[in-house]
Amino acid sequence: MDCVSLFILVVLTFFHQTAVSSLDEITWTYKGVVGQSEWSEHFPDCGSSAQSPVDVITTQTRYDPSLFPVTPLGYSQYGNQPFTLFNNGHTVIVELPEWMGLGGLPWLYSAAQLHLHWGSGGPGYGGSEHTINGLSANAELHVVHYNSDLYPNMSTAMTQRDGLAVLGILIVTGEETNPGFNNILSYLSRIRHAGQKAFIPAFDVRSLLPNNLGRYYRYNGSLTTPPCYQSVIWTLFHERVQISKAQLLKLETILYSSTAEESENMLLQDNYRVTQPLNHRVIFASFSAESGRELSSGEVTAIVIGVMCGCVGLAVIIRFIVKTIRFFKLLHLETVVVNSSTSSWDILHNNRPAPMPRAKETENPKEQKQDLALNMTLEAERKEEPLPTSQL
Ligand SMILES: *[C@@H]1O[C@H](CO)[C@@H](O)[C@H](O)[C@H]1NC(C)=O
Ligand SMILES: *[C@@H]1O[C@H](CO)[C@@H](O)[C@H](O)[C@H]1NC(C)=O
Repeated sequence: MDCVSLFILVVLTFFHQTAVSSLDEITWTYKGVVGQSEWSEHFPDCGSSAQSPVDVITTQTRYDPSLFPVTPLGYSQYGNQPFTLFNNGHTVIVELPEWMGLGGLPWLYSAAQLHLHWGSGGPGYGGSEHTINGLSANAELHVVHYNSDLYPNMSTAMTQRDGLAVLGILIVTGEETNPGFNNILSYLSRIRHAGQKAFIPAFDVRSLLPNNLGRYYRYNGSLTTPPCYQSVIWTLFHERVQISKAQLLKLETILYSSTAEESENMLLQDNYRVTQPLNHRVIFASFSAESGRELSSGEVTAIVIGVMCGCVGLAVIIRFIVKTIRFFKLLHLETVVVNSSTSSWDILHNNRPAPMPRAKETENPKEQKQDLALNMTLEAERKEEPLPTSQL
């Protein structure tokens, strides 16, 4: 090999390596030059057909009774070792200890990290990645696990089809402060700039999750950031978690996507990817649409009024029946006294042969009783009449 070819080889190797490293470190963003629509040019998987996040159209989900509640393992045994909080310029990450994991899936998955996605405030702005029936939440928490039954670590697992399991938790604002989230939010001021890390006290990760882990949507998808590997079994919980408006505001306005060295501070906001086409994928639900449907306050009111009217109606009917029985008992007694040869049931028949004169005298009280029965029926009907209007 002469000097010239050696030189060319060295130059080629050098250029190859710079090309590779520049691809690895390409700075993608959510908006702008390497924004979401350009991701697939640099990271081909981002343009594939089973991407995340997705919009969950609840009427098109398929109920799968074999989907049991997922079980967080060791989430509450956080120990004394501090957690690491990290601003990577795209999100805030809490690195999770190896012993935390996720059960209820075909393999055991070990926890790797959790992170958040959010918006930029203001009415009508999104923030969550997944949407349900087209509706965004204010933010979204992802707890990332890798398949430790099959793979040695996160970096190997994330390229494999069954490599990752991510829990998706939709976050909305409410009146009350969520103390669980303050375990992260209280320390954001220590990692304002991209690349900064801080140790924070370990905390109960279960406190970030919704109470009900039995109701969720399940589908096969991807990482929601480049390189968008399609390696994620998604579990998106039906129940949403609440944080206060002040907590959301803190999340939205405290972090920068720029490093401390950069002259201009760029707020880290709107770090959510738009929903991706399902492309014939099925989203399974661990609960049936009927039992999972939450009743609106109007529906609840209607049901309460309906039940009340039903009870009143039933009371009126029972009262009528009791009165009728009493009436027949009374009638029977009187008939026995007046005419022991006539059964109490016979007197109801109007098409009897013309009564004998002696019987005629007994006719009047009977007719009066029948009139009384008729009046009572009318009375009962009158009592029932106002009911339908009270339903309105
Ligand atoms: C992950 O495991 C693979 C295979 O054993 C190994 O080559 C790689 O260095 C590991 N990566 C990390 C970050 O530990
Ligand atoms: C995900 O993909 C695997 C392999 O193709 C399949 O067995 C599994 O049923 C899929 N799960 C869902 C929820 O679609």
